[in-house]
Amino acid sequence: MQMQLRLYPDPVLQKAAAPVTEFDDALREGIAEMYRIMYAEGGVGLAAPQVGWSVQVLVLNPSGSKDDTTGERTVINPRIVKKWGKASEQEGCLSFPEIFVDVERPIGVRLAWQDEQGEEHEEDLTEFPARILQHEKDHLDGVLLVHRMSPVDKIQHRVALDELIDLFARQQASANAG
Ligand code: CO
Repeated sequence: MQMQLRLYPDPVLQKAAAPVTEFDDALREGIAEMYRIMYAEGGVGLAAPQVGWSVQVLVLNPSGSKDDTTGERTVINPRIVKKWGKASEQEGCLSFPEIFVDVERPIGVRLAWQDEQGEEHEEDLTEFPARILQHEKDHLDGVLLVHRMSPVDKIQHRVALDELIDLFARQQASANAG
């Protein structure tokens, strides 16, 4: 599969991703490519819709380093079964370059998910891994940083958001012309 980072307002980012039902080599190859793109782009997490693949797969590594893979997690068909606490922290997103906003989220979550072999897991995540997980899980539901912005954030980031919208429109126009 040819994967490429998708930027806001690409429509693939704004629809709900389909559950994974086949745990095959194609799935595992797609996941390997997602890790490659995440590290190349300097991210700590990546959801499949961000590379144009509308399935419930996300990867994360709080270190953001391909040389420190101890925190790597491949999360398929995630469900948040419990959450607790609340904290506001600054978040960025590879699909919104250079835009950072404070987002309030639960501090901890109990996550149920499947791995790339289809095995079920359940584990409690807190702090930074929990935040990354919740941000990437949002992507699988079509929920983006722009949807988490306050009205003040939207005014503050209007120019940057408009530039992304213009860029996407120009890319679509040249793709149609070519
Ligand atoms: Co994101």
